[in-house]
Amino acid sequence: MGGVPNPDGEPAAPVPLTTEEVTRYVVAAAVWAPSVHNTQPWRFNAGGPQIILHADAERQLRAADPDGREMMISCGAALFTARLALRSLGYLPETEVLPDLGQPLLAARVSWARRAARTEFEQRLFGQVRQRRTHRGGFDPVPLPPGLLATLREGAARYGAMLRIVADDGRRAALAAAVQAAEHAQRLDSEHVRELARWAPEPGSARTDGVPPASYLARAEHTDPDFPGRDFAHGRGWGLPPLSTASRFRSAGVAALLTTAHDRPADWINAGQALQRILLTASSCGVAAALHSQPLELGWLRESIRTQLSDGAYPQLILRFGAVIQAADSVRRPPDDVLSGSDSEDINVSDG
Ligand SMILES: Cc1cc2nc3c(=O)[nH]c(=O)nc-3n(C[C@H](O)[C@H](O)[C@H](O)COP(=O)(O)O)c2cc1C
Repeated sequence: MGGVPNPDGEPAAPVPLTTEEVTRYVVAAAVWAPSVHNTQPWRFNAGGPQIILHADAERQLRAADPDGREMMISCGAALFTARLALRSLGYLPETEVLPDLGQPLLAARVSWARRAARTEFEQRLFGQVRQRRTHRGGFDPVPLPPGLLATLREGAARYGAMLRIVADDGRRAALAAAVQAAEHAQRLDSEHVRELARWAPEPGSARTDGVPPASYLARAEHTDPDFPGRDFAHGRGWGLPPLSTASRFRSAGVAALLTTAHDRPADWINAGQALQRILLTASSCGVAAALHSQPLELGWLRESIRTQLSDGAYPQLILRFGAVIQAADSVRRPPDDVLSGSDSEDINVSDG
């Protein structure tokens, strides 16, 4: 595949590629989208200059996500990444979200025929696809770059979503309290505990999904107000050694809610597109994000956040932004595991 630019590094100028090469390039980038518990709940079906993105219901979290909302947000993040990869090659993607309502798992269809020069901004975002990592813990007490929050809000609005900054101390404390209440409740719920354990591989595991110990701290960092993380280690001492001394102040960062006006599967997919645009934009400015979905998995807490903290709009994700030295690492299934041809035969995606 001589001319294919490498999604890891500086992409080369657009070059003619075979359709199979474009497909592989796009899927190799899309798998690096964030997904709940790194379930990677997606499959890509290729046929001609078109990729169909399916949600993989076998990877849905039955306890935490019975409606598949987080599964569809994850697919939306993969969709945004696929579209961005096409832009990095100078293609203009044409996208249909949920093109067949009779097939609710058929999340999107993306095709490419026309070309247009990629923008510097698109290229900058694409350069972050492999670099970006979910942060878990506190942040360094430094301000965000000026104008970043406005850019993130504008990016979310392109997908009909709203990024609401929770700046007021009282509201921020209320949001943190919701995360604490949910985390507490889920640690006491054996179904949630078992499900989380299934997506928390042990150190040294060869698994290419789930949240590996290299992506969280062995000793949870507390912030003020405290936004507790998920209990991936479950008392087994797994995780990274602390980066900072225990006495060092760790900020909770800038808290925000990603919301949508409605709560249908198309809104979830678009919230996922907005999420990945937000995360890559922040990352391109050296800003990391922590994600919290615990209270949005419990109906009564989600409803309370909706009515009290987001003006009746539907909360899809809680985010915190800040500066940090990023040590986390993650894993992904190889593209060959998630890509098949339109006739359901695996297409040949090997290099060479
Ligand atoms: C819908 C959704 C919900 C998530 N919820 C959480 C969460 O509650 N806690 C957390 O630590 N990470 C959360 N994440 C981040 C994933 O765990 C993360 O994307 C995945 O482990 C892959 O790691 P990476 O983002 O570093 O590539 C969420 C991601 C998505 C898309």
